[in-house]
Amino acid sequence: MDYGYLMEEARKAREAAYAPYSGFHVGAALLCEDGSVYTGCNVENASYGAANCAERTAFFKAVSEGKRNFRAIAVVGGEKDAAHLEPCPPCGICRQVMQEFCGEEFVIVLGNDGVDYETHTLGEIFPLPFS
Ligand code: THU
Repeated sequence: MDYGYLMEEARKAREAAYAPYSGFHVGAALLCEDGSVYTGCNVENASYGAANCAERTAFFKAVSEGKRNFRAIAVVGGEKDAAHLEPCPPCGICRQVMQEFCGEEFVIVLGNDGVDYETHTLGEIFPLPFS
């Protein structure tokens, strides 16, 4: 499976990141079972705790549009002006949100600033989930 196009959507979504407090810009692109893609970026807040991650933005956009079945999510993140990006694994809260809607075969695609990316399953990165 080629997830290069999904990574590209995540990269584009990252451009809209609102992260004046951390300076860490993240983009995500969520692939639905029907082939549609919902993107998201992180949206921070002066109260810090009200920040929303890119992954959850994408999930909440999709779920609020009636989507319930998902195949994969691509994530790309790093310091705003970083010369090189390292893979940015989803935080624990985002993993729990994925768990709400996805099975253990759901694919998490982690990219950097190049064409390479790595894939993981939800079962692999979130074992023994609460559900
Ligand atoms: N962040 C994400 O959007 N996704 C992740 O997977 C990790 C962290 C955001 C939250 C916050 O706005 C910033 O990155 C620094 O933690």
